[in-house]
Amino acid sequence: MNLLAAVAYNPAMKDKNYVKLLRQASPYIHAHRGKTFVIAISGDAVLQSNFHSMVHDIALLQSLGMRTVVVHGARPQINKRLALSGIETSFEQHLRITGSEAMLCIKEAVGSTRLAIESQLSMGLPNSPMHGARIRVIGGNFVTAKPLGVRDGVDFQRTGEVRRIDSQAIKRQLDDNSIVLISPIGFSATGESFNLNYEDLAAQVAITLKAEKLILVSDSPGVMNKGSLLRTLSLPQLAELLETSKDVQQISLLGAAAHACQLGVERVHLVSYQQDGALLSELLTRDGSGTLISKDYGEIIRAATIEDVGGILELITPLEDQSVLVKRSRELLEAEIARFTVVVHPEGFIVGCAALYPTADKQIGEVACVATHTDFNGQGIGSRLFDQIEFQARLQRRSSLCVMTTQAAHWFLEKGFVRAEVTDLPANKQSMYNYQRNAGVFYKAI
Ligand SMILES: CC(C)(COP(=O)(O)OP(=O)(O)OC[C@H]1O[C@@H](n2cnc3c(N)ncnc32)[C@H](O)[C@@H]1OP(=O)(O)O)[C@@H](O)C(=O)NCCC(=O)NCCS
Repeated sequence: MNLLAAVAYNPAMKDKNYVKLLRQASPYIHAHRGKTFVIAISGDAVLQSNFHSMVHDIALLQSLGMRTVVVHGARPQINKRLALSGIETSFEQHLRITGSEAMLCIKEAVGSTRLAIESQLSMGLPNSPMHGARIRVIGGNFVTAKPLGVRDGVDFQRTGEVRRIDSQAIKRQLDDNSIVLISPIGFSATGESFNLNYEDLAAQVAITLKAEKLILVSDSPGVMNKGSLLRTLSLPQLAELLETSKDVQQISLLGAAAHACQLGVERVHLVSYQQDGALLSELLTRDGSGTLISKDYGEIIRAATIEDVGGILELITPLEDQSVLVKRSRELLEAEIARFTVVVHPEGFIVGCAALYPTADKQIGEVACVATHTDFNGQGIGSRLFDQIEFQARLQRRSSLCVMTTQAAHWFLEKGFVRAEVTDLPANKQSMYNYQRNAGVFYKAI
C-alpha cells in the first residue's frame, strides 16, 4: 500500500504535515515491525459509521510489517438477533447463559459480524487507502473451547471458555503475511461450538502467541479516573480499579487486560473506536490516545546521558518558546547533560526532566529546567523528579536549593520553598539574572 496515500486518507491526520508525521512515526514503525499485535474489537465498533477507517488503520499497520491478529466481539449483534427470534437469555456472574436455541442465533450473529469485517478488509477501490493492499484474511478452527460447566449451581450450558489456542497454525498464517481474524466461538473435541467472551479470548490469544501488545478497542477512550483519562496504569493500580468497579463492560475489559499482563503480555492498550485514528496514534505517536497498562510500569528515573539530548529538547522546546523555561541550545544542553535527571516512559521516551546546577556558593544548589510533558502532568512525575534532585543535593552536602521560576512559583512553595530576593542569590546567579524575564526567586533549606 502507498503509505503516504494511506496517511493522507486518515482524516485525523489530513491537515498535518505528512513528512513530519512520517518522520515522527518512523521510530515506532521500526520498533513494531515483525512484532505480533492482537487487536480486540468490540461488536459495537463494527456497527460504527467510521468502522471502515479503523479497518484501514489495521490494514496500514499490517502493511508496515506488524503481525496482526484481530479478535472480534458481537454483543449488540447477538442481542439484536436474539430479540428478533424472541429468545431471552439470562446473565449470571456477568456471563450469558447460552441455551442451544440461543447458540444458533449467536452463530448467525457472529458469522455475519465476521463477514462484515472480512468484507471491509477486502476493499480495494482505487483512490481509497485500501487500494492495492490485497489483505489476506484467514480464519479457522484455531480455538478449542470447553464448556464453562456448572458454577455455584448455575449451568452455563453453551457458554464456554478457551481450552487451547493453536498458536503454531496462527503463526504460520502470520508468517505468510495474513491477518488472522478470530471470532468468539470455540469448538470442542466433541464437535460442539461454544460462546466465548471476546475479551478473554483476545487475552488468551495474546498470551499464547506471546504477543508484543494486546490492544482492546471499545467505546471508552481508556481508563477514566474522576473524569480524566489515565495515560498509564500499573498492574497493582489496575487490580485496585477492578476491585472497586461496578461497570460490567469495564470489568470484562480490565479483567482481560490484567490477565494478559500477568501472563507475559508486556503492554496492553485501551483505545476508543469513537476517536478516529486512535489506533494509529496509540501505536505510532509518542502521545498515544488511550491508556497503556503494563506489568512493570513504573517509569525509570535516571541520570541523563548524551543520547537523551534529543528527547529533552523535544520536551522543553515548547516551554522555552512560551518563555516558561530559559532557552538552551543543543550545544549547551550537551555540555550540561550530566546535570540532568530524566523520567523515561515504559515505551522509552522522555516524559520529564530536571537539572541540578552548582552555584558560586558551595552550600547552594540550583534547581532548574523542571518539566513534565503536558500529557503526563498531575501524575507526580515533577514531584518524583524534585525528590531525586533534592536527594542529589544532599549527597553533594548542600544545605539549600534555590530556583528561579516565572510560572511554577506555587508548585515550589508547596515543596517547602520560600520567596527570596535576587540579592539573596549566589554571586554568579545574581550577575546572570535576567531582569526582563523577572522570574521569582525561591529558596529551600534541605
Ligand atoms: C511544574 C511542573 C514540573 C509540575 O509537573 P507535574 O508532573 O504535573 O507535577 P506533579 O504531578 O508532581 O504535581 C501536580 C500538582 O502540582 C500542581 N501544579 C502543577 N503545575 C503547577 C504550577 N505551575 N503552579 C502551581 N501548581 C502546579 C498541580 O495542580 C497538581 O496539584 P493537585 O494534585 O493538587 O491538583 C509542570 O507543570 C511543568 O512542566 N511546568 C512547566 C515548566 C516549569 O514551569 N518548570 C519550573 C521552572 S524550573
